[in-house]
Amino acid sequence: MFTAAEARRRDVAELHEELRGFRDFGSTSAVGSTEPTGGGAPVPTYANEFWTAKQRAAHSLHEVSYRACFKPQLPRFFVERLTEAGDLVHDPFLGRGTTALEAALCGRVPTGTDVNPLSRVLLEPRLRPPTREQVASRLERIDFGAVERPGSDELLVFYHPDTLREIESLRLAVGDSDDPVDAWIRMVAVNRLTGHSPGFFSVYTLPPNQAVSVAAQHKINERREQTPPRRDVAKLILRKSDSLLAHCDVETRARLATVAKRARILTGEGASSPDIAPGSVSLVVTSPPFLDVVQYKADNWLRCWFCGIDPDQVSITHLAKIEAWQAAMTDVMRELHRIVRPGGVVAFEVGEVRGGKVKLEEVALRAGLDAGFAAEFVLINVQQFTKTANCWGVDNNTKGTNSNRIVVLARR
Ligand SMILES: C[S@@+](CC[C@H](N)C(=O)[O-])C[C@H]1O[C@@H](n2cnc3c(N)ncnc32)[C@H](O)[C@@H]1O
Repeated sequence: MFTAAEARRRDVAELHEELRGFRDFGSTSAVGSTEPTGGGAPVPTYANEFWTAKQRAAHSLHEVSYRACFKPQLPRFFVERLTEAGDLVHDPFLGRGTTALEAALCGRVPTGTDVNPLSRVLLEPRLRPPTREQVASRLERIDFGAVERPGSDELLVFYHPDTLREIESLRLAVGDSDDPVDAWIRMVAVNRLTGHSPGFFSVYTLPPNQAVSVAAQHKINERREQTPPRRDVAKLILRKSDSLLAHCDVETRARLATVAKRARILTGEGASSPDIAPGSVSLVVTSPPFLDVVQYKADNWLRCWFCGIDPDQVSITHLAKIEAWQAAMTDVMRELHRIVRPGGVVAFEVGEVRGGKVKLEEVALRAGLDAGFAAEFVLINVQQFTKTANCWGVDNNTKGTNSNRIVVLARR
């Protein structure tokens, strides 16, 4: 499905030409310009439908939800054009690891960091997927009755008592295990904790990337006159494993095995990645927190509980003031400048905030320039969103159009 290394590394100058003349999906590019905060030479903007959901289905391994994740087509666009097999592709704000996984599926070596340890829980098992048989056999050996009485009574607002006993038993069995099959089961369980269909362990609630508070769930239950139904935890884990592994053919497994050995997936600040060697990275594709728009701590509290992570110990960058955000992003850009090789590229996606009054792309351009990068262009992938896509957190916008911008910088 994914042709690994067909793409020859291209110069970023050639990319300008391609974007200006791009019409793969029918429309021609709208060319404009913008300016970095504080002034400076104008930077070209290219708006078009550069990738689309209809294009080529994303690999099944991507199908875990995460707040404000981007689509695999975004990193793929840059990975295919600007890197070769074996190149390092980095993301300082990994999230569920869309860039890292897509890079690995294309035969590139993924590196990256996220301040929340949850990111490694979600990503690492998908870089080393087990077989269905391994998952099924391990599930059979787990004692789902090990916990006789649930210890987390407040969670009964989400779960039937017997389901909660199974979840807590599973947590005991795989919570901090180093075994790769256990790590896979933990990742799948984290993705089944809450949701709005019988495919999840919980009673009806918000989509899985946004766990509501206990108090809010009480209200949802009252309004819908619902009580949590009994779910079969092992069965749901196996079913989700089947769908995640659907595209995992021999070729995918061989490619992932080759690059996973060299992958560096870290927990820590995007502005500090001492394990990544200077000048070693060919491409960065990333998306930082957009000011204080997304509540990563609140949205991930239940997932963190399952993994034994204390959300109060995770220092998410959550900044209301643009000056503070600029300073934080400049620190990240300086670190990227250290690890990106000469000729390497940073693609930095930012969303619309404050109803469009604050332009994060202008601030990101300034941060990149101050860190020593050259400003190349800003790419806008014009795409209509369905309501479902928005509610699943594919994008931060509440409007029907993607107005996110990708600031592209080059290391000279
Ligand atoms: C927009 S999300 C990234 C989503 C990612 N592109 C994906 O597709 O899943 C931003 C991520 O930045 C992480 N984060 C917040 N502050 C951070 C920091 N100071 N350093 C590293 N990661 C941070 C959050 O935990 C969150 O996962």
